[in-house]
Amino acid sequence: MSDKGFILWFTGLSGSGKSTLASYLIPLFKEAGKKVELLDGDEVRENLSKGLGFSKEDRDTNIRRIGFVADLLARNGVVAITAAISPYRDIRDECRKKSHAAFVEVYVEAPLAVVEERDTKGLYKKARAGIIKQFTGISDPYEEPTNPEVVVHTGSESIEESAQKILKYLKGKGLV
Ligand code: ADX
Repeated sequence: MSDKGFILWFTGLSGSGKSTLASYLIPLFKEAGKKVELLDGDEVRENLSKGLGFSKEDRDTNIRRIGFVADLLARNGVVAITAAISPYRDIRDECRKKSHAAFVEVYVEAPLAVVEERDTKGLYKKARAGIIKQFTGISDPYEEPTNPEVVVHTGSESIEESAQKILKYLKGKGLV
């Protein structure tokens, strides 16, 4: 069993399944004897990034903080999982460059129509109505990764299928 830490960086639209996939994987990593921490978008915004909004500047600050903490953890042998939209390519790439451990970017892809239909938090409806401004995918950009290590399609795959793709990649790299 590898005792290497790494960053498992999920990126994708709100409701695409980032947190769900992370929650599915965490017990599996623990069973494999790994130390794991999750930096979840909503949770980070309640704590580390309290007070930040959704302008590009604030999102960049949020993502840089997540990248910084994830790196501290990963270089100390922890599997640091991040689950924030992280819509901007340049900041994701900056976090990758600054990482001292392996950086595994997972694009959690789901068509807008699918996440909007799910609307787990009821936010897409509010975004369409203009009640929430600058909403990713509706009135704010989401820049798809150009070269992610793994792509999962949560609109057409089960959680198990998506998780298996990720595990297969990690095993192939000797990370788990
Ligand atoms: S990020 O852009 O900075 O990476 P983050 O993942 O932390 O975003 O937060 C996204 C979550 O905040 C969404 O899942 C949603 O619950 C909520 N949210 C509230 N307002 C917005 C908005 N304008 N755009 C996107 N998400 C929003």
